[in-house]
Amino acid sequence: MNIHTKNLNEGEAACDALVLPLPEGKAGYDESFPPSLKRLLKRVISRDFRGKLNEVMLVPAPDDIAPERILLAGLGKKNEITPERVRQAGGKSAAALKNAGMKRICVSSRVLSASGISPTVFIEGSLLGIYTFRKYLHEKDNREIDSITLLSAPSEELQKSLRWTKAVVSSVSFARDLINTPSNDMTPSHLARAAISLKSSTLVVKVLEKKDIMKLGMGSYLSVARGSHEPPKFIILEYKGAKASPLVLIGKSVTFDSGGISLKPSEGMEKMKYDMAGGAAVLGIVKAVSELKMPVHLIAILPATENLPGGAAAKPGDIVRAMNGKTIEIISTDAEGRMTLADAIAFAGRYKPKAIIDIATLTGACSIAFGNGAIAMMGNNRELIDALKKAGEETHERVWEMPLFDEYKEFVKGDVADLKNTGGKNGSLISSAYFLYEFAENTPWVHLDIAGTAWVDKEKPYTPKGASGVGVRLILNFIKELK
Ligand code: BES
Ligand code: MN
Ligand code: ZN
Repeated sequence: MNIHTKNLNEGEAACDALVLPLPEGKAGYDESFPPSLKRLLKRVISRDFRGKLNEVMLVPAPDDIAPERILLAGLGKKNEITPERVRQAGGKSAAALKNAGMKRICVSSRVLSASGISPTVFIEGSLLGIYTFRKYLHEKDNREIDSITLLSAPSEELQKSLRWTKAVVSSVSFARDLINTPSNDMTPSHLARAAISLKSSTLVVKVLEKKDIMKLGMGSYLSVARGSHEPPKFIILEYKGAKASPLVLIGKSVTFDSGGISLKPSEGMEKMKYDMAGGAAVLGIVKAVSELKMPVHLIAILPATENLPGGAAAKPGDIVRAMNGKTIEIISTDAEGRMTLADAIAFAGRYKPKAIIDIATLTGACSIAFGNGAIAMMGNNRELIDALKKAGEETHERVWEMPLFDEYKEFVKGDVADLKNTGGKNGSLISSAYFLYEFAENTPWVHLDIAGTAWVDKEKPYTPKGASGVGVRLILNFIKELK
């Protein structure tokens, strides 16, 4: 798809459909529109089109202007327009145009610019909204938008913002593809190959094999891999866009979570292919950071494995030793994510990072508490937590902080080992984070639980059903603002 800007007014742009984002009310359109277009709008607005948020209406364009059709896109009340609403309107508009078979799209930026919102936010929503996952479908879908042209005066700032938007959306789609791919194809080895595909002169990728992982003493992570024939892959990516001590991102990468010997109920188990959504998000982030040549020193770690109940699988009651020497009694083999992350966090300590962020589909309790409305966040560093909150507001991948009170130590304190891997269902959103905290120790660290947000069962304005790619926009925004 082609995305560019053209310095044309609304009447001059030859295209299948011209999108006019409009607020509620009669006077919402711009006085500089061509007279015939204004007459059309006067007729349709209020009577047929009210401008309600996410309302869209496709109408034939007047004969004397270049666009073939006009798509009216509602933004809701004029004084309530926010970037998120614009993003949503973008998603709804693009989906409607795609369904209607429109190929060449133009977007008017006047109303958006007048309300102080970058028109690239509308493009962002559009591109996110038309994502599809059709790799396994025989039937072709020829309805595809070929080009989106933003009608706007040229500016350095706009070009920069468009370049950013394109890279970010392409990374979200990359992550969504990985997550939507079923686990028979998205094995730890496949995930490693996806990481290797990102290699470049500034991006080094290293994959540790089982024997290397054993040598490092990652008994916690390895205990999860024991039940599967698929070999684990400990994937490390390093992008050095700055000399400073690195930011480490760790993504949970359980390519399928059956629960292991503590087997999950079969209903809905097919969705557990998304248990590598954290790892996929991290790969997406690295992809954009390296494409955009961002000035940051970034290390990404994906401790990839399946969690299956094979004959060699770890069993409840087993005690294993993590890389930092701490022993863990496995109470539930279904609390496997923290077992993989514990060793990854301990390993990350070697880089003397300035911060560690882990992102994981860690607990069902996160889903129960927040649905898909928010990412749960816990950490040991105020500055980091606040910066992520801000990034969450800006991207609308919102995070909500939960407390890591000392009391939660009791939940994961072991009887026969230093730690136990679960303190039961009550409080498990927080106790799971407390378990990780035992491995982060004094390094500034934040844990993001995306169990509720990584998958959507019912489509949202710019998020089709399936993998959302959550975390990519959030953390890229966070990195952009890093000082
Ligand atoms: N991957 C799951 C968490 C999950 C559940 C993610 C539903 C997305 C949707 C995780 O490994 C898990 O099974 N957690 C258990 C922990 C429990 C045994 C303490 C859970 O939350 O039930
Ligand atoms: Mn599990
Ligand atoms: Zn899991």
